[in-house]
Amino acid sequence: MTMTSTPTPTTTTTTTTQITLTVMPSGASYEAESGITLLEALTRHGVMKHECDNGGKICLNLCHVSVLEGRKSLSKVQRTENERLDQIVGVGSKSRLACQAVLGEEAVTVELPTL
Ligand code: FES
Repeated sequence: MTMTSTPTPTTTTTTTTQITLTVMPSGASYEAESGITLLEALTRHGVMKHECDNGGKICLNLCHVSVLEGRKSLSKVQRTENERLDQIVGVGSKSRLACQAVLGEEAVTVELPTL
């Protein structure tokens, strides 16, 4: 009799937390999952479009937002984001690029720039 072992199925459990994402100046609130970028969340809800010709070559920095609340819940600003922010007029201490900021576990309130 030949015994064969059956591989034990492995399951990967990824936990995401639903957070509240509030967008000013409208004050509209949306559910968003932790671990995705602000841009992904805003795009899914039709709040923001991804205007850059990505593929990573051309980035127009049009996803600039101001984070009014929950800043510490977002991923830290990395060098590339900092360099891009330096190219934008009107950047402040609350500025983030939505494509670079990953949502954490706490509610976030952002303000979209008025064009
Ligand atoms: S999507 Fe291009 S800078 Fe954010």
